[in-house]
Order: sequence, then structure tokens, then C-alpha cells
Amino acid sequence: MDRGEVLSILERHDGNRSGLIPILEDIQARYNHLPAEALTVLAEETDRSLTDIYGVATFYKSFSLKPRGKHLCSVCTGTACHVRGAPIITEEFERRLETNAGDTTPDKEFTLETVNCLGACALGPIVVVDGHYFSDVNSAGVKRIIKKTRAGLDKVQVKADRRIFPVSVNCSRCNHSLMDPEHPVDEAPSIRVTASFGRKHGWMRLSSLYGSHNLECEYEIPADTVVHVFCPHCHAELKGASDCPDCGAPMISMIVRGGGIVQVCTRRGCKGHMLDLNGGGF
Ligand code: FES
Repeated sequence: MDRGEVLSILERHDGNRSGLIPILEDIQARYNHLPAEALTVLAEETDRSLTDIYGVATFYKSFSLKPRGKHLCSVCTGTACHVRGAPIITEEFERRLETNAGDTTPDKEFTLETVNCLGACALGPIVVVDGHYFSDVNSAGVKRIIKKTRAGLDKVQVKADRRIFPVSVNCSRCNHSLMDPEHPVDEAPSIRVTASFGRKHGWMRLSSLYGSHNLECEYEIPADTVVHVFCPHCHAELKGASDCPDCGAPMISMIVRGGGIVQVCTRRGCKGHMLDLNGGGF
């Protein structure tokens, strides 16, 4: 671990020193886990107690004190997924990856873990790999998931890929529906918002298929441009709670109908997105 790197992460959060979780997220993004030395530097530099930092780092399952593999594979073993076969799926992953739940494969490619309910019980059994949700998984599907992960999960085929599924969303401020069935994108109702960048201000329609990054916009958005996104009903900016874990740009957040929050990066071309089905909502 390089102390200078941790200090530069801290510098990036200078205006937000009370936010421990974003700092831990950045450290984990850099090292793939939270090294003990990095947490000590964090304690020294922010005058927090090491006990408090470890309290947060061990409370959230998304943080790991042990080095993780390149891919994190989480099998939901909540009650609904359990009765639909999650234990068999876990065993199949263990057999094919030749490791146990909670461990990392010797080639450091996969970390396998079991998690509690992810809030998508009706779609279970659920497996999440590197933030990509797989629904209705059976033991035969385990081999396909591993194969796809090795091939690269970002290579998505909108129609054929079972990881891509529709979400219906509302404004996180006024709770008005953002769905626009009149103007489909990816042959599904689009998410209609207002986009602003430079001196341009116009409509933008996002794909409602989670995992697809297709969109249409009144104006061409240059690559890498960070766009401000507004609700077309209440005109509030749809600001997310965190920055993009991939590029650091602000995220927008929308409420998922049925429960949860979806966040999408505002930088054109960045594929950063997160779905938190436990994240409150209506
Ligand atoms: S029990 Fe698996 S998503 Fe709820």
C-alpha cells in the first residue's frame, strides 16, 4: 500500500470529511479491499478512531478487509431465494470455482459469497456478479454466469442478455413517474428527463432496461461531458447520493417502483450505474 495514494484519495474528499463511506469506497476501489495500513492512515489523517472506522468497514458487506478476487460473485440466500434453490446454486458455484463461499479462488479471479435478501425476491434466485444482476438462476445457469463473467460482463446484448431487465422509475423529489411509453428506447418505455450541458437544455430519454446504456437526446452530447439531469415535472435536479465509482462524476438517482433506488452516472460514455433494491423508496 502506498501512503501517498491514500492521502490523495483523502484530498479528493477534502470538502466532505464527514463522509467516511465514500472515502472507504475509493480506497476499496483502488486496492480491491480495505488494507489495514490504509485504515490506519485514514484514522491518523481524519482524527477518527480506528475502532469507528473498523465499525463502518465491517458493518457494510460491500466492504472487505481481505483481498478480493477480480470478480465478486454474490449468491442471495435470503428466505425466498433459499426456498427456490439458492443452496444448490451456491454448491454449484463452489464446485465449479473450486472454492468455498466466503473465499477467493487461488487464481484470484473470483470471490464467492452468500448475502442476505437483495430485495428482488420475486425474481429469485438472484446472483449478482460485479453489480450485474442475474435473476431466476438455476444450477445449469451457474456455468453460463461464470463463462460470461470470464468473457467480460460489459459486453451486453440488449435483447438476448438475461442480466438486462426493465425497471420503472419515479422522480426522487416529487415521486412523479418518469416513464414514457409513447417513446420507447430498446423497444421498452423510456425514462424521460431533461438534460442540460453547456448552453444546451432539452429532453433526454434513457433506456429503462437496467444494464443497457442506450439513450436518445434532443442534442448530441459530446463524449465525457457531464450532464445535469432534471425531472420534467418538478424540475428538480436528480442528484444522487454518491459519485460514480468508475469515473467520479456525480450520479443521478431515481426511485424504483416497488422499492429501491437506481443511480446512473452523468458522464456521457461512462457505464457507471448501481441498483440498490434495499435503498428505500416507495
Ligand atoms: S431472498 Fe433473494 S432477493 Fe429476496
